[in-house]
Amino acid sequence: MSTTQQSPTLVKDEISIHPPKRLLFGPGPTQVHPRVYQAMAQPIVGHLDPYFFEVSQDNQRMLRHVFGTENEWTFVISATGSGGMETAISNFVEPGTKVGVFANGFFCDRMTEMARRNGAEITRFEKPWGEAFSDAEAAEFIHRVKPQVVMYVTAETSTGVFQQGEAICQAAHEVGALVIADCVTSLGAMPVHVDKTGIDIAYSCTQKGLGCPPGLAPITVSPRALERLKSRKAPMQAWYLDLQLIDSFYIGHKYHHTASATLFYALREGLAIVAEEGRENRWERHRRHQRAFVAGIEAMGLAMHVADPADRLWTLNTPRVPESVDDARVRQYLLEKRDIEIAGGFGPLAGKVFRIGLMGYGSTGENVLLILGALEEALRAQGWNPAGDARAAAERALG
Ligand SMILES: Cc1ncc(COP(=O)(O)O)c(C=O)c1O
Repeated sequence: MSTTQQSPTLVKDEISIHPPKRLLFGPGPTQVHPRVYQAMAQPIVGHLDPYFFEVSQDNQRMLRHVFGTENEWTFVISATGSGGMETAISNFVEPGTKVGVFANGFFCDRMTEMARRNGAEITRFEKPWGEAFSDAEAAEFIHRVKPQVVMYVTAETSTGVFQQGEAICQAAHEVGALVIADCVTSLGAMPVHVDKTGIDIAYSCTQKGLGCPPGLAPITVSPRALERLKSRKAPMQAWYLDLQLIDSFYIGHKYHHTASATLFYALREGLAIVAEEGRENRWERHRRHQRAFVAGIEAMGLAMHVADPADRLWTLNTPRVPESVDDARVRQYLLEKRDIEIAGGFGPLAGKVFRIGLMGYGSTGENVLLILGALEEALRAQGWNPAGDARAAAERALG
């Protein structure tokens, strides 16, 4: 390149500083509480400032409450949910570790891939996307395979399926295995009882049930898992996700990485809102709004992909796309005409389901009616006519 050549310059007018005001009804980031936005405007302090550690301790204390645990090692990883997943797996899976995976969706596959990259010997128990594992099936698999680590997803965002964990944890402990549970789409919105269920390592995200922006991954580790960690044979490959180093940052206040004070403020506000509402009340709010949404969907004449209502998430719904309808066009209509983001299915569910989230701050009666009305409008625009009155059915369910 000649030294006289001009480098391209940014022209101020070409930079869009006003992002579109989307209404987020997808499985990804959900609607953020106005108080959380305000919290993020607070001045940034350094990551070793005593005030930063005060905020961090508040977060630890409130996270124990939402996770339902007494675990001392409960904190956040400076990463998204996948960083929480990778932390759990890279610390507890070493070359040759026998891992059993309950595999019925996209995120179970991501866990499998991470375990594979850490050198695990993997056995998968596979089910079609949209089906949960029964207690008996779970126990039979674990007793037959005798893994050292068992992994499952509590709330499979790719399918809308909820997975009960008690039988998995009980059988895992009977064979001496640790249990890693993905709580990304359940924490703060559906019952997560880490200690009561017997989960050893649980991780989540901040952008769903907690109503915050993405960027942190809450994680909790049982004393039993901690013992196992300390007796690891192979040295940890990952440095950034090494739980023992991260603990020395939070507890020993030893520099590990430049954590984002802004995201820590956001999480503290999000968790304070959960505490004010009451954990159980919040779960009940999600349950109620999910039921009302489903009542509307069924009245419209759509079917839910997850057949058994007891297996459905309260956070993320997967109504099936009617035969004659192109789901991409419906999503495009919603985005362009109504500024609404929903998602489609992928993998075996590509083109077959919509994925519609009602989570955290976004789980409200008004939002149920809004999304049902908008979806109906978008389907009509594709020439599909509803069988009945979705709004009336949802209103009846809302009471
Ligand atoms: C169940 C589940 N696990 C893990 C992840 C990964 O989280 P992230 O996209 O925040 O990295 C997601 C993301 O939606 C998820 O739904």
